[in-house]
Amino acid sequence: MKQMIIHGGKPLKGDVWIGGAKNSTVSLIPAAILSRTPVTLECVPRIADVDNLMDLLHEMDVKCDFKETTLHIDPTAIKMSPLPAGKIKSLRASYYFMGALLGRFGKAVVGFPGGDDIGPRPIDQHIKGFEALGATVKNENDQIVISAPEGGLTGNDIDLAMPSVGATVNIIMASVTAHGQTVIKNAAKEPEIIDLATFLNNMGAVIRGAGTDTIRIDGVEKIASKIPHTIIPDRIEAGTYISLAACIGDGIRIHNIIEEHLDSYLAKVEEMGVVIDADEDSLFVYPAGDLKMVQVKTNPYPGFATDLQQPITPLLLSAKSGEGVIIDNIYPKRVRHIPELQKMGADIKVEDNIILVHPTSELHGARVHADEIRAGASLMIAGLMADGETVIDNADNILRGYDRVEEKLRKLGADVTIQNA
Ligand code: EPU
Repeated sequence: MKQMIIHGGKPLKGDVWIGGAKNSTVSLIPAAILSRTPVTLECVPRIADVDNLMDLLHEMDVKCDFKETTLHIDPTAIKMSPLPAGKIKSLRASYYFMGALLGRFGKAVVGFPGGDDIGPRPIDQHIKGFEALGATVKNENDQIVISAPEGGLTGNDIDLAMPSVGATVNIIMASVTAHGQTVIKNAAKEPEIIDLATFLNNMGAVIRGAGTDTIRIDGVEKIASKIPHTIIPDRIEAGTYISLAACIGDGIRIHNIIEEHLDSYLAKVEEMGVVIDADEDSLFVYPAGDLKMVQVKTNPYPGFATDLQQPITPLLLSAKSGEGVIIDNIYPKRVRHIPELQKMGADIKVEDNIILVHPTSELHGARVHADEIRAGASLMIAGLMADGETVIDNADNILRGYDRVEEKLRKLGADVTIQNA
């Protein structure tokens, strides 16, 4: 287990570069096995989720070579193998191998996925999608066994009960080589879905409408990579650094940003009174003055992202007066950071899944626990604001999703160390 040790209270300043989007990367790596030729991904973040996905690829005899931010994946000698529990449990996104293996081999045997503890995360919509394409899905000894019929999968209309990111990704991957047309209605519209569709279309797939709520996939026989794919910037990492810059920054420029992907978030931060100058692909966050309290409600994209409700929480604590309200409509139980923030002196509580935030003029260092990635981000920002030493246990969760975080924070002037516990 890793610990992040922070000596807080130092104003941070300078430049930070955002890495490639985690939630694109974790779908693109499984999607690479659909290719008949080697794949190159650029702007790959240095995060533990990528290491875990590479381990899963090795189990299938897929070669990986990861240098700097370029990842070469060679699936030409891939062998169809079951991916039981073990590594599968280490990250949620391993469930993308269900769609990818089904698309490539017409069969997938995958352990039940793990990932962040943020409340119930059913996969009924993924299964509904596979079944609509003609697959049979069985639960055998804690493994999901999915099999296409003899003649392969056939396209169909699939109306999702909610715009699930995971189900949209899995259905796209399974249907790229299915017979005929698949139409996903009420599809997720996240930028990471567009990134996946761009990646697959550049390999010969025919996917239209990604980024809208109706996605049409015309099945093709085979797909093969021809050009490297550059992953979009991580909007959640960017949002985290914006909050950090507003909470404790003395002028921070954040580079490699697609501003449009952060519209709802920037609107909320600006409503609080944070001043931000936008350039072509960077933002400059000025040191914050008096901040106004706000209400935050998370919603599917383009609404305020659930993954940013925890990182924005320390900013609400910095407001001068009033009561802030945070309601997570996607994961109402995503509140594991609250007791940890309380240990640091935060005046914050949860009532009926609603987070109530009161201005807290001073936070103090404490020993806290990161239960999941974004809870960890929230505690990291609070630790940078607090007086004294903060020790974040299970910082592995922060490393799962934040690219070279120790290096980036140190460059801004933070006193941060990650060490083995
Ligand atoms: N849902 C169902 N049934 C399903 C699928 C989803 O009821 O079959 C519900 C979920 O319980 C949730 C909502 O639908 O209430 C949305 O879930 P979604 O499927 O969109 O989430 P996900 O694919 O499991 C991805 C990200 C999460 C992010 C959510 C929401 C990846 C690997 N994960 O999860 O990212 O919070 O979308 O935007 O892309 C993170 O990065 O910290 C993270 C948790």
